[in-house]
Amino acid sequence: MGELYVDQTRCQGHARCYMLAPETFEIDEEEGYARVVEGREQSYTEEKVRKAIRNCPERAIKVRGADGKDEDIS
Ligand code: F3S
Repeated sequence: MGELYVDQTRCQGHARCYMLAPETFEIDEEEGYARVVEGREQSYTEEKVRKAIRNCPERAIKVRGADGKDEDIS
């Protein structure tokens, strides 16, 4: 099973992820970038999380598979 994460090298702090799925994404107050809420790494099967993934303009939200590679969840 994969694990949801925000690629910190891509995130620009648009916060659409947080607006669409605040249970899953939080914004770091100092840095202004998103991260996945602890315990919500499997929530990418939920429709609003998938919507957040699709709506990130930087394509920064990804799912890492057990092999360490990103999975295609589009
Ligand atoms: Fe970052 Fe994309 Fe969210 S740029 S703050 S992961 S909408």
